[in-house]
Amino acid sequence: VESLVIAGGRRLAGQVVASGAKNAALPLIAATLLTEETCLLERVPNIRDVATMIRVVRALGCEVKWEEEHTLRLRSGPFLACQPPDELVREMRASVQVVGPLLARFGTATITTPGGCALGPRPINLHIQGLRAMGAQVDEDGPVLQFRANRLHGADILLDYPSVGATENLMMAACLSNGRTFIRNAAREPEIADLQSLLNQMGARVRGAGTDVVRVDGVSRLHGAGHAVIPDRIEIGTYLAAAALTRGDVRVAEVIPQHCEAVLAKLAALGVEVSRGECTVRVKAEGRLRGTTIRALPYPGFPTDLQPQFTALACVAEGISFVHEEVFSSRFKHVEELVRMGAAIQIEGRVAVVQGVEYLTGTTIHAPDLRAGAALVLAALGARGESVVEGAHHLDRGYEDLAGKLTSLGAEVKVVPLAGERRSTTRVTA
Ligand code: UD1
Repeated sequence: VESLVIAGGRRLAGQVVASGAKNAALPLIAATLLTEETCLLERVPNIRDVATMIRVVRALGCEVKWEEEHTLRLRSGPFLACQPPDELVREMRASVQVVGPLLARFGTATITTPGGCALGPRPINLHIQGLRAMGAQVDEDGPVLQFRANRLHGADILLDYPSVGATENLMMAACLSNGRTFIRNAAREPEIADLQSLLNQMGARVRGAGTDVVRVDGVSRLHGAGHAVIPDRIEIGTYLAAAALTRGDVRVAEVIPQHCEAVLAKLAALGVEVSRGECTVRVKAEGRLRGTTIRALPYPGFPTDLQPQFTALACVAEGISFVHEEVFSSRFKHVEELVRMGAAIQIEGRVAVVQGVEYLTGTTIHAPDLRAGAALVLAALGARGESVVEGAHHLDRGYEDLAGKLTSLGAEVKVVPLAGERRSTTRVTA
């Protein structure tokens, strides 16, 4: 467990290169379970969630090797175990993405539901309903779910909500099913289109990813393929937000700007200068940010995974900002810590009402999870004085070399192991 010690007030400037998208890489790794042949994934981010997903597929019997820094070679072979280890599923919810491929290929999959209950705070009822519609028998024994099907068949599925994970899981399952599947009210995230492109290269027949109707014609087998993961629009948004908070000038390279439209629009609304190149985006910020309204929604709306980071921006923007969280029922863990840095925020249900203050003050804060942690790092970069962000290991789940990339932009970030004498690293500067 580590902490980040961040000197506030350094202006960030320069260029960083975006890594491959975490949320694309995880289902892509799961998708390689659909074939016994070798798959090659390029531009895979070197982050802990990817390492966890590799542990999951290895535990099932898949051979995985890093070829180069960001290239993964995966081969599932003819036989696999059909139950990912409980502790890995608990560690990372996206492990549930192996269910669709395993069930479709081997006719069985067992999983202990991540939250302990399939209908819990982050339920998987939509995954279950869709797989049932495709002919799966699902037996629930407490938290253990067993899925069985001789062969899945095509189905016309209407999702109650455009769940990213359910859309992906059902798409993968449908690839090896008998007949045609429609997934309606499908999630439209770019990561879903990325999954479609790998699946089609493997010989699947998937259309419509990126729209709200995905159509899959099942085939009897899939083959090996190679694919490069799309850039991480959440990582990109985080660096752009860092530029905005520090009145900096940051360019992010190897980007697909169209995937970032909602974020770029919000940055412009906050009063910074935004420019797009063919594969780059840039933010130049001068003067104080302006308050705005942010509504986290399914894509193409503003991403919930950047809501905490943009709440940090709103903290120092002039006037009142309203931050609506419409994807998750409670995703405001960063708020308490931001308040400790001097922010003025009130939560009213799913809305955070932020009264902008002139500046935040560095202190010791605790990262409760990945994106809330990113919000605190941003707040610390813009704050007066030094901050210690505890729980920095959460950041490694989704940001490749965060401290290194920030340092290359001129930030002062030190990674310090959190030893016994916790207080000795705690210094409050105003
Ligand atoms: C994915 C992303 C995550 C992001 C989220 C929303 C990955 C690995 N993770 O998560 O970073 O924050 O999309 O953009 O891609 N829901 C149900 N029943 C279900 C499934 C979901 O009610 O069966 C609800 C959830 O509780 C949540 C909402 O739907 O409120 C969105 O969840 P979903 O889109 O499924 O997110 P994930 O795929 O888990």
